[in-house]
Amino acid sequence: MSIKELDKEYVAATYARFPICLTAGNGSRVVDDEGKEYIDLGTGIAVNTFGYSDNAWADTVSKQLNTIQHTSNLYYSEPCARLAEQLCLRTGMKKVFFSNSGAEANECAIKAARKYGELNKGAEYTTIITLRDSFHGRTVTTLAATGQEVFHKDFLPLTSGFVHAIANDIEDVKRLASENKCCAVMFEVVQGEGGVRPLTQEFLTALESFARENNLLLIADEVQTGNGRTGQLYGYMNFGITPDIVSTAKGLGGGLPIGATMLGERVKDVLGASMHGSTFGGNPVCCAGALNILSRLTDECLEGVRQRSAYIFDQLTGAKGIKNVSGLGLMIGVECEKDATDVITACRERGVLVIKAKNKVRLLPALNIPMDDLKKSIEILKEVCAE
Ligand SMILES: Cc1ncc(COP(=O)(O)O)c(C=O)c1O
Repeated sequence: MSIKELDKEYVAATYARFPICLTAGNGSRVVDDEGKEYIDLGTGIAVNTFGYSDNAWADTVSKQLNTIQHTSNLYYSEPCARLAEQLCLRTGMKKVFFSNSGAEANECAIKAARKYGELNKGAEYTTIITLRDSFHGRTVTTLAATGQEVFHKDFLPLTSGFVHAIANDIEDVKRLASENKCCAVMFEVVQGEGGVRPLTQEFLTALESFARENNLLLIADEVQTGNGRTGQLYGYMNFGITPDIVSTAKGLGGGLPIGATMLGERVKDVLGASMHGSTFGGNPVCCAGALNILSRLTDECLEGVRQRSAYIFDQLTGAKGIKNVSGLGLMIGVECEKDATDVITACRERGVLVIKAKNKVRLLPALNIPMDDLKKSIEILKEVCAE
């Protein structure tokens, strides 16, 4: 059987895969099993932070792999402790819980917020306000947090205690806060799966004031927006707000699974011994890789992200066949006159990999994509949209 046939036969049919099998990559270039080369503007959905065959990261990971690959959380482990230290030093957060994915990072954020509510407001203060069109994961609880009915309908009943406000509408947040006993508000500063839609500065500033006045925690879901993707280390840093909890995953690992839930001053001690855990959480290999990624998210690197972003916006805004360009940093949504799926297919046939978010073509290139590759791929996207 071919790989495609094997996959169709034996892998659960939850993914609508593109009809190619990727076998190797270097930088922002990747090849399929027929030897065709592509410029990749998707990075495994915002994961391969510095592209494929990233030697600095791979060397660190290999070294750790050949030293000690796993210990369990019954023991102390250096990469885990050092990564937590770096995350706290770079964000001002106070403690970190490690897991393996974005959904799990959010599960921990939700548990911490509920425990905070119980300890500080009363046992009934369990409700979390999230936003419509948000995406927070695929577990039963993070699906409930996700403000999109389409993800809910096959798996009811979901975890109770989530209400969904209209994004960028502070009055709707206030209404829900008055109608429910709430402990937190959870948001993505740029709604990724919801169509690459940034929240407004006005909304986030008002949300922070409202949360402070009403003893509500702010939970920033930085699973997709985090780790340099928006041109700042974490997306919230573009808006001058200070969340109480920050969850992240994806690009932090650079290609290995890791989730991190950063707990700020108000929540740093709410989770005590035995209240949460994960067998693989804080795995030394994943943490060593993440330490390498984090150490390279320098001011210079972030400036490079902003410059590449400006180039893309400049090239695509107002271009023929393009209705709208949205997003922040290297997390960009392109609304085309043509159907997004047709644009994605045509780009792929011409050697450029892009992905979808709702009705938009989504671009999530490596933070260090060489300018030549970026120029070439954006040119192809423009040609496809214009035809
Ligand atoms: C904002 C956000 N939160 C959570 C998740 C879930 O992450 P994971 O697939 O690693 O569980 C995603 C995944 O796309 C995401 O974009």
